[in-house]
Amino acid sequence: MTQPSHDLIGVGIGPSNLSLAALLVPVTNFRTRFLDRRSHFNWHPGLMLPGARLQTSFLKDLVTAVDPTSPHSFLSYLVAKKRFYDFVNAAFDNIGRSEFADYLAWVAKRLDGLHFSCPVREIDFDGTRFVVRSDQGTATTANLCIATGNTANLPDWANTHLGERCFHASEILQQSRDITGKRVAVVGGGQTGAEVFLALAQGLFGTAASVNWISRRPNFDPLDETHFANEIFTPDYLQRFFDLPEGRKPCVVDEQKLKSDGISPSTLREIYHLLYQLRHLSNGKSNLSLMPGREVFALQKQADGMSLSTRNHMVGEDESLSADIVVLCTGYRTLVPEFLEPLATRIESDNQGRPQLNRNFGVLWDGPSDRRIYMQNCARHSHGIADPQLSLMAWRSAAIVNDLIGRRVYDIEQCPPVVNWQSARQAQESDTVAA
Ligand SMILES: Cc1cc2nc3c(=O)[nH]c(=O)nc-3n(C[C@H](O)[C@H](O)[C@H](O)COP(=O)(O)OP(=O)(O)OC[C@H]3O[C@@H](n4cnc5c(N)ncnc54)[C@H](O)[C@@H]3O)c2cc1C
Ligand SMILES: NC(=O)c1ccc[n+]([C@@H]2O[C@H](COP(=O)([O-])OP(=O)(O)OC[C@H]3O[C@@H](n4cnc5c(N)ncnc54)[C@H](OP(=O)(O)O)[C@@H]3O)[C@@H](O)[C@H]2O)c1
Repeated sequence: MTQPSHDLIGVGIGPSNLSLAALLVPVTNFRTRFLDRRSHFNWHPGLMLPGARLQTSFLKDLVTAVDPTSPHSFLSYLVAKKRFYDFVNAAFDNIGRSEFADYLAWVAKRLDGLHFSCPVREIDFDGTRFVVRSDQGTATTANLCIATGNTANLPDWANTHLGERCFHASEILQQSRDITGKRVAVVGGGQTGAEVFLALAQGLFGTAASVNWISRRPNFDPLDETHFANEIFTPDYLQRFFDLPEGRKPCVVDEQKLKSDGISPSTLREIYHLLYQLRHLSNGKSNLSLMPGREVFALQKQADGMSLSTRNHMVGEDESLSADIVVLCTGYRTLVPEFLEPLATRIESDNQGRPQLNRNFGVLWDGPSDRRIYMQNCARHSHGIADPQLSLMAWRSAAIVNDLIGRRVYDIEQCPPVVNWQSARQAQESDTVAA
């Protein structure tokens, strides 16, 4: 029987698979290859706005949570860059996203087996091996780990207008832009909307005639970073969430939205201070307007520019707003990559077409049990709100490594959590198992 040329092929080299690649380094006699369509490692470059901060502790890097001795930690990076003492003295509340991106790129350069300029086009299974077709040829593998990230969420009303004047925020830095004299509408009240609004208000792309920031949320709501909110970003909570009845999960995710998708309090402070400065201390004129509680439901071309139709949920009325430029900060959606199409009928999906994953992030499929497909960052609905975030990335990679290798390469057990998330029934069941 033909043997696969690799033990694992990872598709996508963002933080998720970079973490997996770093944690697989100590595993000997295991042949890996990671493929990415980009020309080199680059973390969300289209949104690397000046001053943007990481929303997570730098300790939640690629490896530290499961192997603080790894040479691929953020602290190793600081030491290698000879800035350890400066970093400690700086006492950042949150580090800059650009520094974390530089750390990630530093790790990517040091790892073997990462291949860039390599878009994957199709993956099939020949009965024994996965066959991975990319622009650099065909390779075979026993196992896969798919981590291709999320796709820009483009509302239907925007589809026919997409271009230089109406674009998703993830493209804002992809070309030079001059908004001088233009009316700009920013749609979306998450962290991206806040960062884009701030950058526009600070004049990063020129001086706009006006900047209107529209949010569907009732207010510009903060990210909840308090102690017990952060308990949700722990392995124990993830396990408890995973065990919830499927019907309970969507409303729990909704309830917890602001713990992952709120706006960083530091960004809100910066925006408020800028507004104060412009309204009271400069010339007393501000061309900025904040419009929460509004949902955009239509976009029409006008003789001069565009008209956005919004529903004002606070008063229950429809409104309209003119704009020359519309920046869509409307988030991301998880799509099953097209290259998995040949395997589509073999993968177990829920009623929304989302692949079903087991506890260890393995896809349920009808192939042989020693041929596994893992997926990272596509299971918010089944594994909880931490899944798309960096918080549990190292822990998740270690769980995958242990499952893949079939032994405890990493000890990922934790002490009992501060909060008792376990139901009485679950506690009884685990007591029975222990006995
Ligand atoms: C601007 C921004 C800032 C964020 N900041 C934080 C933060 O501070 N804290 C936090 O916890 N979370 C943050 N997140 C959320 C999350 O941590 C990131 O989105 C993170 O990048 C997810 O990593 P990933 O590897 O799963 O996906 P991605 O980083 O999206 O990487 C996916 C990779 O797959 C590649 N790819 C896609 N299709 C193919 C293909 N067919 N063939 C080959 N390669 C392919 C892409 O080129 C890309 O490199 C942020 C998200 C955004 C958008
Ligand atoms: N510096 C950083 O660390 C950084 C930077 C950017 C992003 N991120 C992270 O990346 C993730 C994605 O953030 P994001 O801001 O891009 O997406 P997001 O949190 O999903 O926010 C999208 C926003 O768009 C709104 N929206 C969608 N359709 C709309 C419509 N038709 N009209 C009005 N508003 C509409 C949503 O409203 P509803 O809430 O009502 O759906 C939501 O407020 C988050 O976890 C975020 O924290 C981090």
